[in-house]
Amino acid sequence: MVMWSKIVNLQSNTKNQMLDKVHNLINEVKDFKATSKDEIEAFRIKYLGSKGLLKDLFAEFKNVDAELRKDFGQALNTLKKSAENKVNELTNTIESATEHKNIYGDLTRPSEPIELGARHPISIVKNQIIDVFSRIGFTISEGPEIEDDWHNFTALNLPEYHPARDMQDTFFVEKNPDMLLRTHTSSVQIRYMENNEPPIRTISPGRVFRNEDISARSHCIFHQVEGLYIDTDVSFADLKQTLIYFTKEMFGKSKIRLRPSYFPFTEPSAEVDIYWGLKTETDYRITKGTGWLEIMGCGMVDPNVLKNTNIDPEKYSGFAFGMGIERIAMLLYQIPDIRMLFENDVRFLEQFKSVL
Ligand code: PHE
Repeated sequence: MVMWSKIVNLQSNTKNQMLDKVHNLINEVKDFKATSKDEIEAFRIKYLGSKGLLKDLFAEFKNVDAELRKDFGQALNTLKKSAENKVNELTNTIESATEHKNIYGDLTRPSEPIELGARHPISIVKNQIIDVFSRIGFTISEGPEIEDDWHNFTALNLPEYHPARDMQDTFFVEKNPDMLLRTHTSSVQIRYMENNEPPIRTISPGRVFRNEDISARSHCIFHQVEGLYIDTDVSFADLKQTLIYFTKEMFGKSKIRLRPSYFPFTEPSAEVDIYWGLKTETDYRITKGTGWLEIMGCGMVDPNVLKNTNIDPEKYSGFAFGMGIERIAMLLYQIPDIRMLFENDVRFLEQFKSVL
């Protein structure tokens, strides 16, 4: 009797040990951590591989007593599930960590489409003006935006204390009163004449600055294109013909008029008006009800200016003109407020996509 019961105990002990073993393995699986894919793979083979622990344990199933089979089976299933989950979980963690490290991801992947921008209306109009003048042989010249007194004023027949300087009040560089932000690109024409022999045919586009109150019609920053033509026997008729050509190409309207005006660097001087027409006017303020709109200043280069740049006024003569790009852009695109051109509001700028 005694012997027998001992054997039974021994057997049930062995069976409980089997169950304990499975429970221990479940805990082992729960606590398992890995830092590499190799470790995960070794873990997988150990538990789930074709010669792995689970395979062996399932093989034991038939040796387990009927009353323990249910518990044993459930424990084995739990072990299998948790081993599988552990493998998936660890693999995901390691993969997403390496993905983050490789911030560029897959470099062969097609990129997001880049939306095309639009050229700024100032650039569009500037390029159109350049295009019109380069067709009749004008080159493009550029100069510094921070200019000295000589190139911006004095060489242009505007000596210190000349009252006409008030027409173009500017910003001076505090440390050096001889330096200022250029008020027009006529300064570039002086530089060009100093460095080139006639015949000269050049236009100077660029940004200019004036000490003006900012309003719907004027700004302290704006853009100009100025032109210069110097050769032998250049007359006012050449100037007028060039202006007619320009306005026709630019606006498709050829009716212009020249009003006598004053600039220190040209003599005679004129302001150019283009006939905008009353019928086509969308805003009566544009021509103030007259149909005519001023678009630029011009004149025959003053002999003093030629002398200042070592060009012989007895031999050469020439004409010059200058216009504001903003004003022309406002006219062409019916822009009611100059400030819109400087605010960089994408909703405004996007509208020029179609012009490109
Ligand atoms: N420089 C003048 C201005 O900025 C324009 C101009 C240029 C007038 C050339 C006459 C001749 O107002």
